[in-house]
Amino acid sequence: MKRYIFLVAIAVCLLSCTGNSGAGNGIDLLDAAAFRTEIAGKPVMLYTLQNENGMTVQLTNYGARIVALWVPSADGTHKDVVWGFENIDGYLNTADKYCGPVVGRYGNRIGKGRFTLDGKEYQLTINNGENHLHGGTGGFEARVWNGSETVDKQGNPAVEMTYRAMDGEEGYPGNLDIAVTYSLTPANELVIDYKATTDAPTIVNPTSHVYYNLHGTSEKSTDSHLLTIHASHFTPTDAGLIPTGEIRPVEGTPLDFRKPHAIGERIGRTDYEPLAFGNGYDHNWVLDKPAPSAVTLAAEVYEPATGIVMKILTDQPGFQFYAGQGMDGKEVGKRGDRHNYHSGLALETQNFPDAPNHDNFPSSVLRPGETYTQHTVYAFETVKR
Ligand code: GAL
Repeated sequence: MKRYIFLVAIAVCLLSCTGNSGAGNGIDLLDAAAFRTEIAGKPVMLYTLQNENGMTVQLTNYGARIVALWVPSADGTHKDVVWGFENIDGYLNTADKYCGPVVGRYGNRIGKGRFTLDGKEYQLTINNGENHLHGGTGGFEARVWNGSETVDKQGNPAVEMTYRAMDGEEGYPGNLDIAVTYSLTPANELVIDYKATTDAPTIVNPTSHVYYNLHGTSEKSTDSHLLTIHASHFTPTDAGLIPTGEIRPVEGTPLDFRKPHAIGERIGRTDYEPLAFGNGYDHNWVLDKPAPSAVTLAAEVYEPATGIVMKILTDQPGFQFYAGQGMDGKEVGKRGDRHNYHSGLALETQNFPDAPNHDNFPSSVLRPGETYTQHTVYAFETVKR
């Protein structure tokens, strides 16, 4: 009996010693009270999911947003690999509100905010030069979603976020009901599943717009990360970052990431016009796929200093990679870290920017009776050094 009590005591100690915020793993959870508020009459909350390896994601229903993501690193501790703030006020006041949320109804740009559907022209909000970006001034990132804790089909811990975008909101036709489910698997995967339906023909292209930094701090540049993108083509743009419609091979250009390259290696090659237009990397790659909606490995990112590897798998045709050239170090985020220049990568799985205005791009039209879906996985591993 004594021996049994002793063993139970050891087991309890082990559990608490490897617990979610304590000694050993380095995890420092955000405080739920710092996110509890009301915006536009709706309650805002913080949700925390953790798998059996300690991998932890924290989310808020303000923008269906990821606010922390703790993943294992090579030294045995966990690192928070997303950029952001310790409380809701940080997210309400930031100059770059696209830190962590689901963006939409249409992620990325639509030229002059105009498109024609079934012979009718629609005008969307203009919020980026003369163009429409990430769903407009009141896009999904600025809305309070309904959040609920649940489990996914495999029984993994999950949070489902739902939102109804109204007919005419930001200029889009149709009431759109969207659901985004975040779940964590035992294999250290963050899975994001999207579903949307509409009551009138519309366009839809949501994506997760998180700033990743595999150093675990925005004080350090992501230029040292090694990036692979499984894409042989990209969609060149004009100076306002609106695609011209061309689908150009990456072969022989600084956008060829089919073999791993450090992000900083060629980012300054502004003699190459697309890099001048983007002021660095801010482009859509056309993913190599055996079939249009096959789930394939889109990209891999590796940081040698922490040994963290992130693999991104998706059923989407496109991949927008933005290297954080708008960050200037003025804002202070979690743990007192500055959001320095090039301190976060947006790695967005999506349809191509401005697809509604290019017949040769995949369709983004959703009609009543149809269901839009997207399945994307951010999988984490470590390389032992
Ligand atoms: C990216 C976009 C960039 C920039 C960023 C938000 O998706 O491609 O041009 O707008 O979002 O700061």
